Amino acid sequence: MKRLVLAYSGGLDTSVAIRWLAEHKDYEVVACAIDLGQQGEGEGEGGGEMERIRRRALDCGAVEAVVVDARSEFADDFVASAIAANALYMGKYPLVSALSRPLITRHLVRVARETGALAVAHGCTGKGNDQVRFEVTAMAIAPDLTVEAPIREWGMNRDGAIAWAEERGIPVPVRRGSPYSIDENLWGRTAECGILEDPWASPPEEVYERSAALVDTPDEVEELTLTFAAGQPVAVDGKQLELVDLIAEVDRRAGAHGVGRIDMLEDRLVGIKSREIYECPGAITLLTAHRDLEDLCLEQELAAEKRALEGRYAQLIYNGLWFTPLKKAIDAFIATSQPVVNGDVRMALFKGSAWVAGRRSDSGLYDHDLATYAASDRFDHTQAEGFVKLWGLPTKVWARRQGSR
Ligand code: ARG
Repeated sequence: MKRLVLAYSGGLDTSVAIRWLAEHKDYEVVACAIDLGQQGEGEGEGGGEMERIRRRALDCGAVEAVVVDARSEFADDFVASAIAANALYMGKYPLVSALSRPLITRHLVRVARETGALAVAHGCTGKGNDQVRFEVTAMAIAPDLTVEAPIREWGMNRDGAIAWAEERGIPVPVRRGSPYSIDENLWGRTAECGILEDPWASPPEEVYERSAALVDTPDEVEELTLTFAAGQPVAVDGKQLELVDLIAEVDRRAGAHGVGRIDMLEDRLVGIKSREIYECPGAITLLTAHRDLEDLCLEQELAAEKRALEGRYAQLIYNGLWFTPLKKAIDAFIATSQPVVNGDVRMALFKGSAWVAGRRSDSGLYDHDLATYAASDRFDHTQAEGFVKLWGLPTKVWARRQGSR
């Protein structure tokens, strides 16, 4: 029998897919579950919930089931790049799911090589971006492997899939209640479907898990000091932390103030506009701080060029083009800019907002004696007159010719 490695979440669809791939495509399935810091799992160990997911895959008929703790790898190899790039798709979405798909695919390919599998599979539908991210990544790093997309192919709805599984005695997880489609990792949480599909309807409070409702948040401002070295956050309130733990800590503290809720209409790669709800308290807080510190530390022409590339970069990631030459080239540009991005940013958290209350840097370009209006002013005012004359000269020449209006 041919072997296939399936990205397994433990949910209904991928549980049914194990048997479906055997029946319809003659595959024996190796299930691969990736721990990216989804919440609801056993604290820190990556143990409890992930082990339950692993056993469920075997119960559903997988010949082998592996769990990969990829939390640090996700933080260091993927989220770190997003921080350096201030990456927000459409200026709003911190790319929670988009960042994870290339990593998941990389592990599917690794496990395929180790187990002699000739194919990998994902549980995406045909309407989303995630299928594109899985498959384009596979094309980039393992073009010899076949990619299967059972859910896109089988044409069953949720009830159909449950019935199909029950006929065969497959113990699929049927969680009643949640009408939402959720994806989650340490960089944030996404929610779609149900009432959220009405862009006019307010998202019900039950959609949220990582951010408190404003009525429940503290009535006092909380401050949090983030220390950056070479463009990456390295400490919270003076305490050094690995990136993976630092993100979790900031996420928890900002989430308690209701920071990081995003409600947006999103342009999907497949041409659809969809209503998306995100919760990214840590991401929003860290990106706000990082961007501010760059304003202090980057020379202005470089900063302007970087801002222009950031939107393009976020779009590449969103569109599944992580392992591509352009992405690599922009990474190189960004890497050149980051060594001077050092210092502390004091973030204030209150009632859903995270804002910069103060910043300082030994490599900063703020020069008090140039900026001040006080007596210590060292700015040469006499040079300004000539500067403005020449700066405005083309405009003046044009206006003389055209007449002023
Ligand atoms: N719309 C977001 C994106 O494309 C979130 C996708 C969530 N994925 C999921 N399978 N629920 O990145």
